[in-house]
Amino acid sequence: MDLPFDGAISAYFENDAPTAVRDAIRRADRGDILSTSYPHSERMARKPYERELAALQIELVKMQAWAKASGARIACVFEGRDGAGKGGTISRFRTNLNPRGARIAALSTPTDTEKTQWYFQRYIQHLPAGGEITFFDRSWYNRGVVEHVFDFCTDEQRAHFFAQVTPFEQMLVEDNVHVFKFWLNVGRAEQLRRMLKRERDPLKQWKLSWIDVEGLKRWDAYTKAISETLERTDHPDVPWTVVRSDDKRRARLNVIRRVLLGLEYTHKDTAALGALDTSICGGLDVWHA
Ligand code: ADP
Ligand code: MLT
Repeated sequence: MDLPFDGAISAYFENDAPTAVRDAIRRADRGDILSTSYPHSERMARKPYERELAALQIELVKMQAWAKASGARIACVFEGRDGAGKGGTISRFRTNLNPRGARIAALSTPTDTEKTQWYFQRYIQHLPAGGEITFFDRSWYNRGVVEHVFDFCTDEQRAHFFAQVTPFEQMLVEDNVHVFKFWLNVGRAEQLRRMLKRERDPLKQWKLSWIDVEGLKRWDAYTKAISETLERTDHPDVPWTVVRSDDKRRARLNVIRRVLLGLEYTHKDTAALGALDTSICGGLDVWHA
């Protein structure tokens, strides 16, 4: 398969990546966690992961039954850099759910018509109806981060977005939509390692775009844009949950747990849910860690 950016990730790795990042990847064994500040020294083993995930899947099924019966509406926003694990986390949520009531909204670049609309307009039609859970794989937060880093929006448009986003989300909450906002935070070396893997894997190359390649070089600009976005849009009514995702398994378990802990569904088994790992899952403190 010939892709226009074929080899661009390895070229970045060889020629442009910071030495520390390159060395970390070269030194790593397959199972290493590359972020030195990550609070666990090893990745979670498969067996306990699968056991905990299975218990959470049962709770998710109960949660969906409750949503259907009660008409509850749930919106989960997934944000994070390319390769942070948004898509993988969403698919673990949906493994045993009825897909009809558990939809993904992964919108593409806005069309010319959409560009003339109110910025939030194209997202609204994907908000959940009664009994539904919607997973936003990227969201209106594009304007805070990627659109800013790549100059797809003006500073005025971004300022306007920051002025409107919290009131917009508060309206959803006031209307009894359960809103969860996740920021998956991946380290620089781990992000690059995942991209290199995608480049080599014909089944995963579709996940790569020129934005990913170019984005690697703009790590610091992303960091600044993410910090601004998190600071300006974290509100007690619609708080961010930041999850360190260098270890995908721990990240997935904690995200699912966070949603289940936040909903009062019927037949909830709190013991089966277990506790959040607050060293990798929490508020903005986890972003700053
Ligand atoms: P993804 O990581 O979602 O597979 P990309 O990394 O290619 O996709 O792009 C990141 C985000 O930037 C996507 O949500 C995409 O829609 C958005 N994007 C790309 N080009 C533009 C553009 N010209 N204007 C606004 N948004 C854009
Ligand atoms: C990721 O975060 O792993 C990827 O961006 C997956 C996706 O496209 O959601």
